[in-house]
Amino acid sequence: MSQSAKSRRKPNLRVKIISMGNSETGKSCIIKRYCEKRFVNKYLATIGIDYGVTKVTLKERDIKVNIFDMAGHPLFYEVRNEFYKDTQGAILVYDVSDRSSFEALDRWMEELNSEIGIKSEVDSIVVCVCANKTDLRRQVDESEGQLWADARGFHFFETSALSGDGVNEMFQALFEGVVKTCENGGKREPIATQLGYTKEQIDAIQRLKNAKNDYERLGLGPGASKDDVNKSYRKLAVLLHPDKSVAPGSEEAFKLLVAARTALLKRC
Ligand code: GTP
Ligand code: MG
Repeated sequence: MSQSAKSRRKPNLRVKIISMGNSETGKSCIIKRYCEKRFVNKYLATIGIDYGVTKVTLKERDIKVNIFDMAGHPLFYEVRNEFYKDTQGAILVYDVSDRSSFEALDRWMEELNSEIGIKSEVDSIVVCVCANKTDLRRQVDESEGQLWADARGFHFFETSALSGDGVNEMFQALFEGVVKTCENGGKREPIATQLGYTKEQIDAIQRLKNAKNDYERLGLGPGASKDDVNKSYRKLAVLLHPDKSVAPGSEEAFKLLVAARTALLKRC
């Protein structure tokens, strides 16, 4: 390369990536598949932490990627908690054939939040959720995983470390996201959901499903007037009408919305 072409290149980057998720979900195998292009069938539990380095070139920029592959077992918490700080990208892995590993994702985010401690720092981490072992019989549908990731502004990929499906695409998105965040002064770029629905719709569906009472379902305080109820109902009905919304769970949420409105109007 000529001297002038060299000087036009952007400076090299060093980035820190971690893996999170329950033990045996396939974190080490996903990393091995990407770095060494092979799959190991035998389970070799990561003891505490494994460290590796790989180099990638993105948009004419050399990137040195430091990968900290964490052990998922609770026994190793005392070892892995040292390694969360300064993370720029994370793969958060669950096993589609093991529902409990999907249900554990929130706990992994809690661990990340509590170890880093600073919200803005956590928000700048690019997270790729990996629904791994798609070659096995599943207990978790793709739409459930996608919804979980979308609601948090995370990337979502279905992967199989065994076949290699989705693994390169996932790492490519992770590295691109981290580089963009660096170029953006540490601010993570919002991710457009690919399925034609918005975060507002996802949040509304989650609230309707999880709210403790009908007021909460409609985003209202106790003692809201008839007018308030109708106004909030109309806004949510436009957002979630199953004829218009393709967000997973719209139909069920719409039914909950109608029932909540009916019950509240009786009380007003
Ligand atoms: P810890 O290090 O204990 O946290 O586990 P881990 O998440 O790193 O899991 P690991 O990569 O060691 O994989 C666990 C087991 O799952 C191994 O027996 C792998 O062969 C198997 N495995 C990993 N990925 C896949 C996959 O995509 N498909 C199938 N069928 N098996 C997989
Ligand atoms: Mg491992």
